[in-house]
Amino acid sequence: MIKDLVLAKEWLPAAYSHDLTDQPLQVTILEERVVLFRTTNAIKAFKDLCIHRGAALSLGKVVDDCIVCPYHGWKYDDAGACVKIPQQPPGRAIPSKAKAQVYACVEKYGIIWVKMNSEAGDTPLPFYDEHLNSGFKTVCANPHTLQAAAPRVVENFLDVSHLAFVHEGSLGHSDYAEIPDYKVHWKDNRYVSDEIAVYADADGTGNFATIYYTFEILRPTVARLKKVNYETGEIFSMLFAVLPEEERKSTVFALVSRNYSFDAPDQYFRDFQQLIIEQDTSIVESQKPEELPLDLQAELHLNPDRLSIAYRRWLGDLGVTFGSDIGSRLKKAAQ
Ligand code: FES
Ligand code: CO
Repeated sequence: MIKDLVLAKEWLPAAYSHDLTDQPLQVTILEERVVLFRTTNAIKAFKDLCIHRGAALSLGKVVDDCIVCPYHGWKYDDAGACVKIPQQPPGRAIPSKAKAQVYACVEKYGIIWVKMNSEAGDTPLPFYDEHLNSGFKTVCANPHTLQAAAPRVVENFLDVSHLAFVHEGSLGHSDYAEIPDYKVHWKDNRYVSDEIAVYADADGTGNFATIYYTFEILRPTVARLKKVNYETGEIFSMLFAVLPEEERKSTVFALVSRNYSFDAPDQYFRDFQQLIIEQDTSIVESQKPEELPLDLQAELHLNPDRLSIAYRRWLGDLGVTFGSDIGSRLKKAAQ
């Protein structure tokens, strides 16, 4: 049951706001088809299924702030109640069961976030101050889909050791692969790393320097990163939000911010992030087991892996199973 999933209590990134036009949009969240659509004042998220004969509401259209099923024209209002069945004579009551399933939905930082378990209490939305700060310019990277479990994708984002290899020449340099010891702290309901000094290129411009990386694990599938070059005062930040579509299929929404080069074309930063995530994709898709092992005895951890260790521990504490350690848990239970 989707409600039993820990990730169903989370605000998950479903789409960029600018990708939702006046047409309904189908997305997949935790293996459920969801339709997003705009009303005059809000964005709505329903299960993408008409209760009459199961057609996808996303193939229909929005009329008078209602979504109209493409098959027989049933019309659902923004609270999910069916308000019109065209085949019925006027005055005949609409069955009370004629409803669409509604999910909680908010728009923030240019991203539409959906919470699949509406009974879950207050789950915090990830924060990303740079988006609201006029000292930064923020661009949305292209949504990028990987055939990989969301926790593997998030962990790769937190993995500072691979920059010198996977991103050699674009972010890192293999002559400078050493990672200084750092610690990870639990602070205000999230994990925050110390500043990690890396000889790196912050943004692919070819200017290598000592860059100070700070990572924060905000939620089970959302993390952020801040890179500072103290010599120039340049700051490059990123919000990295992963949508678990299926157990082994994830889509990344990344906001990329800078406090410099406001005149540079935004497309440069979009293209750069695209290059980086494409370099990551084949590696992450190759990882076995596909599910992130939450048992800390599995795989081998070194000092630079402290962020991964914190992340795995947190997922374990939360009881996350979707796309993580279902296999090893079942094995343990059977022992
Ligand atoms: Fe939607 Fe019939 S399936 S109206
Ligand atoms: Co990478």
